[in-house]
Amino acid sequence: MKKTLIAYDSRTGNTEKMAQYIAEGIRFSGNEADVKRIRDMKSEKDLVGYDAYLFGSPTYHRDMIGTMKTFLFTAQKADLAGKLAGSFGSYTHSGDAPKIILDTTSVPTFCRQQ
Ligand SMILES: Cc1cc2nc3c(=O)[nH]c(=O)nc-3n(C[C@H](O)[C@H](O)[C@H](O)COP(=O)(O)O)c2cc1C
Repeated sequence: MKKTLIAYDSRTGNTEKMAQYIAEGIRFSGNEADVKRIRDMKSEKDLVGYDAYLFGSPTYHRDMIGTMKTFLFTAQKADLAGKLAGSFGSYTHSGDAPKIILDTTSVPTFCRQQ
């Protein structure tokens, strides 16, 4: 059984709903998923012990939510190189945030995407 961390933030609840639905799908497949709001994660220690990571952010002003930027600096300290990672997020038209997160985390020292 694999364990996935779904770390997200959300202003109006849409990305939060996505995080919960994704977790439901992972659990349905017989694996484990923890859903954590990034403002409740204080240090890189909160990212230890997972096989895969999903980072969720809505798009505001063609960018990821501000708290996600700070969180990605924390995540980088967690030494996730070689781990699986993906991104998601709610948006209405341009949907930049998931793409920017993937771009950021594809730095070789960060994580591996699949
Ligand atoms: C001030 C403002 C700026 C937004 N900017 C964008 C944007 O640049 N691109 C986009 O696709 N959606 C944009 N949206 C739409 C939000 O991404 C959308 O409402 C999303 O569902 C919010 O997710 P949340 O409920 O998780 O906060 C914007 C919404 C607001 C209110």
